[in-house]
Amino acid sequence: MIILKTREEIEKIRISGRIVAEVLQVLRGLVRPGLTTWALNRKAEEIIKKRKARAAFKGYKPSFGSRPYPAALCVSINDEVVHGLPSPRRSLREGDIVSMDVGVEYRGYFGDGATTVPVGDVNGRVEELLQVTEESLYKGIEAAIVGNRVGDISHAVQAYVESRGFSVVKEFVGHGVGKRLHEDPPVPNYGFPGKGPVLQEGMTIAIEPMVTMGKGDVEIKGDGWTAVTVDGSWAAHFEHTIAILGDGPEILTEL
Ligand code: MF3
Ligand code: CO
Repeated sequence: MIILKTREEIEKIRISGRIVAEVLQVLRGLVRPGLTTWALNRKAEEIIKKRKARAAFKGYKPSFGSRPYPAALCVSINDEVVHGLPSPRRSLREGDIVSMDVGVEYRGYFGDGATTVPVGDVNGRVEELLQVTEESLYKGIEAAIVGNRVGDISHAVQAYVESRGFSVVKEFVGHGVGKRLHEDPPVPNYGFPGKGPVLQEGMTIAIEPMVTMGKGDVEIKGDGWTAVTVDGSWAAHFEHTIAILGDGPEILTEL
């Protein structure tokens, strides 16, 4: 069931969304060779606590039966697509790419966002992967117009990604966001224009393209969480929570 939000509810999601944006902005500035993924997680927790909010991923129990997620932040490096577990034994290296995904709950409403950044200098095609993935997110957002359908968002993301020679991951999808981290509708990064639920004023959704340099197939590592590409190709992930309004989409996970 899709839950439409009032102006007041969207304002609450905007507050959570701003905390998400603040966390990602600070973390982006910390990324450098030698930093551990655990240090990134600690910083995320510190900011969330300072804002009197709650880390939405910590303790999250997935429907697919894994153990509860143990951290505030997902940190996924290179061929890791999403849900990488922060660790004091894992350090960033020059030439890596690192995806950081964070969810925040503030006064009962959630915000969810992700970004991928290079660690120092990266290979040119890898740089292009980051650009194309972020641009595909904005293509999706541009299609999030009242009267369009979810499939218009999905198709906009997929068509752009594939036109640039990359692949979308189909195993994980975007989602509604509100009083829960994951609400209806699912928002796939692949699909057909004119298909799926109609977009209505007051919908709040997370659009989150996951894009790889090879094939889009993923598998879950032995830790029960980390999703990696089967072919070892590198992946990027960008995510915004947005509101669909009468005068167009508004990004809520932005400063
Ligand atoms: N942004 C991801 C999502 O929408 C991250 C979830 S991590 C989890 O689902 F720990 F909460 F599962
Ligand atoms: Co999400």
